[in-house]
This record gives sequence, structure tokens and C-alpha cells, in this order.
Amino acid sequence: MAGWTSAVGVAHLARLLTSQQPRPAGPGTRKPPAYRALADGIRVLVLEGRIPVAARLPAERELAIALSVSRTTVAAAYEALRTEGFLESRRGAGSWTAVPAGNPLPARGLEPLPPEALGSMIDLGCASLPAPEPWLTRAVQGALEELPPYAHTHGDYPAGLPALRALLAERYTARGVPTMPEQIMVTTGGMGATDAICHLFAGRGERIAVESPSYANILQLMRESGARLVPVAMAEGLTGWDLERWRQVLRDAAPRLAYVVADFHNPTGALADEDQRRRMVDAVRSAGTVLVVDETMSELCLDPDLTLPRPVCSFDPAGSTVITFGSASKAFWAGLRIGWVRAAPDVIRSLVAARAYADLGTPVLEQLAVNWLLSTDGWQSAVAARRTQATENRDALVSALRRELPDWEFEVPSGGLTLWVRTGGLSGSRIAEAGEQVGVRVPSGPRFGVDGAFEGYVRLPFTVSGAVADEAVARLVAATRLVAEGVSGPSQLPRTFVA
Ligand SMILES: Cc1ncc(COP(=O)(O)O)c(C=O)c1O
Repeated sequence: MAGWTSAVGVAHLARLLTSQQPRPAGPGTRKPPAYRALADGIRVLVLEGRIPVAARLPAERELAIALSVSRTTVAAAYEALRTEGFLESRRGAGSWTAVPAGNPLPARGLEPLPPEALGSMIDLGCASLPAPEPWLTRAVQGALEELPPYAHTHGDYPAGLPALRALLAERYTARGVPTMPEQIMVTTGGMGATDAICHLFAGRGERIAVESPSYANILQLMRESGARLVPVAMAEGLTGWDLERWRQVLRDAAPRLAYVVADFHNPTGALADEDQRRRMVDAVRSAGTVLVVDETMSELCLDPDLTLPRPVCSFDPAGSTVITFGSASKAFWAGLRIGWVRAAPDVIRSLVAARAYADLGTPVLEQLAVNWLLSTDGWQSAVAARRTQATENRDALVSALRRELPDWEFEVPSGGLTLWVRTGGLSGSRIAEAGEQVGVRVPSGPRFGVDGAFEGYVRLPFTVSGAVADEAVARLVAATRLVAEGVSGPSQLPRTFVA
């Protein structure tokens, strides 16, 4: 969209560059010249999403002063970046970050294999667990018993079954955010919720500020709705949001929406603390931006000693600034395709109208199944089983990775279903390609970024354990070897992404 491009402030860039860890030099390697080190530093910031693609860099002279280097050094670094495709300049207008044309197509969601096509492939593409039994069977049986009175109606409930809306509202009230059934709409999963929200608020060309990285399928849905994504880097080390960056983006880009995952963020697992939540709501309120909070992962706390911060919507209980959505997909089972939105009653009425021609409503039987779970102890028992399984899977994956791929780096999250892994300087896209050859499907980092960031990452879900986790990691080792030896796949992508 015309009229706004992000700019990287000189003080911010200098801070990012000086806080970078120098790469350990191999035996006999010489320290690179200053311009090369600077070019590599900027390149890594782009590829790791710390500065956005298509962002304007400071003028050479300004950056030289901020870094206390000569202007020639900055000019040579910019020239090297231009040659390598990481910078585009227009005479008299400035220089913008870019990713080289040979990089993989980043603008894609996840492409999980359908179960019947898996064969011997280990699928780490999807962060969803199989149905928790006996709870699915019991819920469906309970739903069948409740069905007869609904069977006498036309079956269209565009806002959801009244009984389920009431139960979902009660759950928010029990979490400390008083909620009426009129503030709830049942949707076809979190994706259905996002689709309706984009439809209502973010038409073609509207800006949506998103965490960088963020959940690939929602990024793709937003792109396809015609919105322009404005990435905001996460704070380092699973510590949630960098409020200073958020305030700047909200002020400079004035996005219509901001989309965040406060609880056990996908893909990093980060948890925003209470103070960040309060400040984020203040910041969006002053910017006139609607904050969309995705609570899909919020019940997957894997640390029994952790007290969860208050829900983000507790800082806007009326629900006119904060729109929250949740889903049964991670806490229970993705096959039900049940989600919900919490917002002010008038926002809900508009969302119901916005979703009307997409799907008319959500299937009644599945809503009754969730209704059964929430009105018995089924939901809590199933969630407890989920947490035990996800914890076991996480621990198996972490120990196999530490043993077999010690130069892969990650933080172990206290919840969620995913590990965000830095792949030791090798291209995550190449590892994903090689994985297809050796029988492990894994999504590469750029799917979770905007415009090609995160080339040096893959996302690994907590979906396998025991011998399968060991085998999955053994295949990742094989894929890594293919990439390191330069014998993988057809792609022309560079094997490494740092010098
Ligand atoms: C953060 C996040 N939001 C939304 C979704 C989509 O949820 P649903 O299956 O309810 O459409 C997912 C699924 O992986 C997710 O991880």
C-alpha cells in the first residue's frame, strides 16, 4: 500500500548490531574486514526477522556516526549487501532491505500431508495431536443424545448454538472477565474466526501488525484477504513482546488490526507477561488499532508451577478494542473444527454478518460435542491428558535434539506445541527440502515470517515421542548432512545463510 514503508531507526539498528554475538571463527580463519562484518550483521538481522524486509535503512553517514566507523566502511557494506540481493537502493531516495530473488517463496502457509498420504514419512508439519480418547467418543455420543430438539429446526445458527455461547461466556466470566452470551460467536475453528475478523476489519490494502515470527496459516489467510502485513520482532528469549517496537509500529504504520498470540505463541512458545498485556492494550487503544488476541494455545501450559497472567481481554472487558478468539483444536481436537470469538455485542453482530456467506454457521453436532465436554468434566480431563502427552513429547524431542544436533539452538517453552529452532547456520528451507528425501516433513522458518525472514530456522512440533521422536531427529540429522554436503534436492538456494 502506498504511503507507508517501515524505516529502521539508526539508534535501533546500531543497538541490534552491537548486541549481536560474533560468530565463532573456525581454526585458521581470519577476522573479516569491518565492512564484511557489518554486511553480515545486517543480513542476519534481515534473515532472522529482527528488521523487516522492505524497510528503509539509515543513510550511510548516519549509521557510520552511530557505529563509530568510517563512512567508507558503511558504503562498502551496503554495496556488498546490494550485490548479494539483500539491499535495493534508489539514487537520492535511500536503501531498503530485501531478500535475494533465489530465496524460496516465503508467502506460504503450512502444507500438512493428508493422513492417507503419509506412508513412512514422519510428519512434523502439523502442530496438532490425535483425538484424546475416550473423550471424543463420549462427546459425540453425548452430542447425539442432545441432537433431537435441534433436528426439528432448520439447523442454521450463524452466531452458534445458544447453549454453547452461554457456556463459553461463563468460562470467560470464571477467568475474571465478565461476559454475556451476546459477546460470543461460535466459529469454524480459529481460522474461521480470523476469516470473519479480516472480512470485517481488514479489507484490501489495510495494514495488520503481526508478531514476527507468527503462525503461518493465519499470516497466509491475512495476505489472501488483501491485507498488508507489518512485522514486529518478538522480544529475545521467549519473553513476549517488545513494547517499544510495538508502540513505534502502531504509531508509524497506524495498522487497522494487530494480531498476537499472547499465550504460548506459535511458533516460539513465548508467553507475554501481565505488564506487557496491559501496556499492549494501552498502546493499541491510543493508536486506534483493534487488537486480535489468539488464545488457541492458552490451555497448553506445560509447567505445573506456572501461574498464567490475566487474559489480555481483561484489560478491555467491554471487547471493543480487544477481540479474542479461541479454539478446541489444540486443547481438544482439530478435527472438530470448533472455535469462538469474544468481543463487544455490536462487534459480534457485525462478525456474524461478515461470516454469513463464508459458511452460514458451524456444524450443530460438533457444537453439541463441545457443549457436552464443557458441561461435564470431559474438557478438563481431556486437557489434562493433552498436557501430559505434550510435555512427554516436548521432553523427548528436546533430549534427542540436544544429543544429535548440539549446534541447533532453541529455548524450551513452558507451553504450547512447538519448538522454534535455529539450525546452526544452515538454511531451514534446504533442510525442509532434504527432509522430504529422507522421510521427515518439517516446515522451514520463512513460512512463519514476512517477506523471507527466518531462513535459518525450522519449527518442530511436540507431536511425537519415544522411538518416533528419536527416528524423526535421526532423519533431521540425515537431512542436515545432505544440506551440509551440498547433495540435497533440486534447489539453487544457498546452503548456509551466514558467511
Ligand atoms: C496460533 C494458532 N492459531 C490458530 C490456529 C488454527 O486453529 P483452528 O484449527 O482452530 O482453525 C492454530 C493451529 O495450528 C494455531 O496454532
